[in-house]
Amino acid sequence: MAGGIAAAAFRRMPAQNDLRVNGDRINAHLTALSEFGKNPQGGVSRVAYSDFDKSARVKVMEWMRAAKLDPKIDFAGNIMAVRPGTGAGLKPILFGSHIDSVPEGGNYDGDVGSLSAIEVAQTFAEHNVTTRHPLEIVIWQNEEGGLFGSRAVSGQLTAAELKTVSNSGKTVEQGITFIGGDPTKLDQVKRKKGDIAGYFELHIEQGGTLDTAKTDIGIVEGIVGIKQWEVTVTGFQNHAGTTAMDIRHDALLSAARFIEMVNRVVRSVSGRQVGTVGKIQAFPGAPNVIPGKVVCTLELRDLDDKKIDTLYASIVKEANAIGAQNQTQFAYSELHVNVAAPSDPKMRTIIADAAKGLSLSSRVMPSGAGHDAQAMATLGPMGMIFIPSVGGISHSPKEFSRPADIVNGANVLLRAVLAADKALA
Ligand code: HGY
Ligand code: MN
Ligand code: MN
Repeated sequence: MAGGIAAAAFRRMPAQNDLRVNGDRINAHLTALSEFGKNPQGGVSRVAYSDFDKSARVKVMEWMRAAKLDPKIDFAGNIMAVRPGTGAGLKPILFGSHIDSVPEGGNYDGDVGSLSAIEVAQTFAEHNVTTRHPLEIVIWQNEEGGLFGSRAVSGQLTAAELKTVSNSGKTVEQGITFIGGDPTKLDQVKRKKGDIAGYFELHIEQGGTLDTAKTDIGIVEGIVGIKQWEVTVTGFQNHAGTTAMDIRHDALLSAARFIEMVNRVVRSVSGRQVGTVGKIQAFPGAPNVIPGKVVCTLELRDLDDKKIDTLYASIVKEANAIGAQNQTQFAYSELHVNVAAPSDPKMRTIIADAAKGLSLSSRVMPSGAGHDAQAMATLGPMGMIFIPSVGGISHSPKEFSRPADIVNGANVLLRAVLAADKALA
């Protein structure tokens, strides 16, 4: 009799290659998640450490429990859940993403990879699939501010960065406490190279390559390095009515010239580098006062960290010349650095085979966006899976990925995890 039941159960269990995620469940969870920090114009402002972020994390942990996981918040504030493996002494395979957003962001950046990771775990649970490696499903905290959660785990987070004021108005230190971490114990979350068997992240492309080419899956060859600075321009505050034009030390005029110069310098060399001044504030900020100070940001990105440094040196040099025109001064303080990260060739092959096994088209491509995967790449082999962003739009309420593409990405993630479990031992 027992044999009969076991045989019947065995027959019911699909072969691992026939396993598929429950696509309706992922897309329903994405819709539910979009309510946390929802904006009237669409999209969300679920910035890290906000009340919206905190309540969304509670909901996501509920979904993790429904997936037969036991989620815990680590001292850095990341949500982690382990699905034990059957092998002895094997390092874990991690996969996940983030659910915090930029201000007025979209409903897919980070969310697709986070909810798909939970769905993969739930599919394994529902079909009694065990792996030899332990699996760790992770929701990184404050990816958008600068990969703070994943860089705490990779040991790249500096004490100074804990004082950074996040989009929520809390410092990173206050934010970590607010979401259930303990910033005084970050040493205990650090892992070193070799502590993980591998890391996968499914993410929307956030650019238009896949959508334009009508390709189903992107296999990320590498993630750009990102350097961000706060730039302070100091001039001389004065009366806007009584100060002649030729004796002004107008900090905002210099900043305007700086912004145009950054665009010119970054475009002056061939390649896929990008440079952005994304935030600016003039002080004191009144129509009848010549600004004495301007604070803005500078961000440079490229797959080659050395090119970032060369561009930065050119920008600083040209900014000095701008300042000399009207006796204004430029000062820079580094906000944070995301080191460029190549993906692992084995992981790229695993993703390519997973896509092929699902009869999905794929192409190798770089990531112009930063991701937690680049922090994880310092600990072990990293692989990133992209799905199309319609119109290449992201960090915008207009961000959109098709439900069918999301399901494709989740199924590629599922197969990649199973294949890595066999290949990485
Ligand atoms: O800014 C980025 O590239 C990422 O979306 N945090
Ligand atoms: Mn993201
Ligand atoms: Mn983002």
